Amino acid sequence: MMMKTNGGQSVGILGTGSYVPEKVLTNQDLEKMVDTNDEWIVSRTGIKERRIAADDQAASDLAYEAALKALDASGVAAEDLDLIIVATVTEDMSFPSTSNLLQDRLGAKKAAAFDLSAACSGFLYGLTTGTQFIQNGMYRYVLVVGVEVLSRIVNWEDRNTCVLFGDGAGAAILGPVEDGYGFLSFELGSDGSGGDLLKQAAGGSRRPIDEKVLEDKSHCIYMNGREVFKFAVRVMGNASENVLEKAGLTKEDVDFLVPHQANIRIIDSAVNRLGLSYDKVVVNVNKYGNMSSASIPVALDEAVRDGRIQDGDILVLVGFGAGLTWGAGAMKWSTKEKK
Ligand code: ACO
Repeated sequence: MMMKTNGGQSVGILGTGSYVPEKVLTNQDLEKMVDTNDEWIVSRTGIKERRIAADDQAASDLAYEAALKALDASGVAAEDLDLIIVATVTEDMSFPSTSNLLQDRLGAKKAAAFDLSAACSGFLYGLTTGTQFIQNGMYRYVLVVGVEVLSRIVNWEDRNTCVLFGDGAGAAILGPVEDGYGFLSFELGSDGSGGDLLKQAAGGSRRPIDEKVLEDKSHCIYMNGREVFKFAVRVMGNASENVLEKAGLTKEDVDFLVPHQANIRIIDSAVNRLGLSYDKVVVNVNKYGNMSSASIPVALDEAVRDGRIQDGDILVLVGFGAGLTWGAGAMKWSTKEKK
């Protein structure tokens, strides 16, 4: 689905926040756990270390820290939030939703709340969804969080996957901005025929947890890395170009690309396709690995807080993930609320 966000209130990000757990797991640590080495991981993925949640931290705990910072940055009070969307595949539990838990913790009494499942594309699905509610006038402030505690569903004996993932949370407060600013276009996509390439096969209604599951570890992440890689390279470039075209922009207009952080080689391919110089790309995969739905909002928050992203900048956010899913958005950055 592709859309241009014209007609209705312009919607932007009024503030961002992020949180990563304290515990660092380095490639050297992983060398002691599985048959791998720092050189392989860095050359194939660009990842040097990742964060791991403490035993008593669940998705809502990480989400809460990121949300508080985003609220603070935006100047919006929790009680004024109209809607909370949490994008995650590692919710605290199946139900209640992590967004419900977060709503209570934040004291966002009037907010509606739901979780959204689109794996690594979840944050873009969340931004697109939240924007609709503000654009059509139903709501004014929407909190969108991307959060994952992937360390809980990684098979720590599978070197093909365990070196790739990390835990973290990123948040954004959506609200009305001046015309011409905020989101200019979105693209969302799905190709369910690739569902088997990346999945957590057990733990749902198809295959509830039993002894066999625990033995074959099908409640953990399974991935066909090579096929996901090919898909990712294709859609990252296509989706980025599509949202630019839809917004009436060209590659030359892009000030910052904020891509999903799965693998530096996938990011490189998108950078080459768009002909960008590296100072226009936000990269933190080296520090955090792939945090799925949290990768894009954490990268965005870091680039906003260190002053790289400024009012008036043209941003392209783009991600892909299990499903298969993908999403992209083009925006003209401004955190100034339209009163
Ligand atoms: N250490 C050492 N060797 C390893 C490791 C490791 N950690 N992992 C795999 N290998 C070995 C493999 O066993 C294979 O050995 P073989 O040739 O003897 O069989 C060899 O390295 C090469 O494996 P490839 O799969 O060809 O390696 P590739 O260059 O494709 O890189 C990678 C693998 C990094 C997984 C890559 O395919 C990739 O990044 N794919 C995309 C994954 C991705 O983006 N996932 C995010 C999905 S988002 C979401 O929704 C969660």
